[in-house]
Amino acid sequence: MSTKLIAPSILAADFANLQRDIEMVNKSEADWFHIDIMDGVFVPNISFGMPVLQAISKHAKKTIDVHLMIVEPDRYIKTFADLGSNILTVHYEACNHLHRTLQAIKAEGMQAGVALNPHTNINVLEDTINDIDLVCIMSVNPGFGGQSFIENTYNKVKQLKELILKKGASTKIEIDGGVTNKNAKKLADAGADVLVAGSYVFKSTNQIETIRDLNAIANS
Ligand code: DX5
Ligand code: ZN
Repeated sequence: MSTKLIAPSILAADFANLQRDIEMVNKSEADWFHIDIMDGVFVPNISFGMPVLQAISKHAKKTIDVHLMIVEPDRYIKTFADLGSNILTVHYEACNHLHRTLQAIKAEGMQAGVALNPHTNINVLEDTINDIDLVCIMSVNPGFGGQSFIENTYNKVKQLKELILKKGASTKIEIDGGVTNKNAKKLADAGADVLVAGSYVFKSTNQIETIRDLNAIANS
């Protein structure tokens, strides 16, 4: 069994103490920083943008996984590479020319990710799966932290895992939204490789311990 990764979502951090929260992730057992960029158009919320990511990058010592919830993501691929993104995930629903977008992300030296909204079927990735490094299955409707997990996600993880195996792809499966100690094991068993967790980590009293527990559950 491959190692399951934990990616705390900085959206749920205390923005007035961002450096403190980044250092916490640095010294925890977490694997990645998950960074949510929202434009108020693709999703009904605005999170934060480039200057904040630049500040995060300065202190973050782990992989920076950027989740773009924006329209026309192609316009900003180079910008996000320059800001230190290691993985750049765009939404399937925001791309008219997904194949071209994936190539453009890789040409900037980043890994290419595709996120799917809860209503989007896995089979739309049949023809691109071999070009995708990471598929982010949204287990809530994107736009906000702290929402409850959509149960149909387990079926989607299994379907995606089958597609990846059928096509001989090396794509990682990431789950984003409502992840807790209650669903982590079942998600990992279904085939998830990366678990994003925002509120569950940052609203807990001992964040380091919460990350350690989540990691242990996902890898049990
Ligand atoms: C939702 C974001 C998620 C969010 C997860 O649009 O993409 O990454 O931060 O937050 P929780 O874990 O609180 O659901
Ligand atoms: Zn996200």
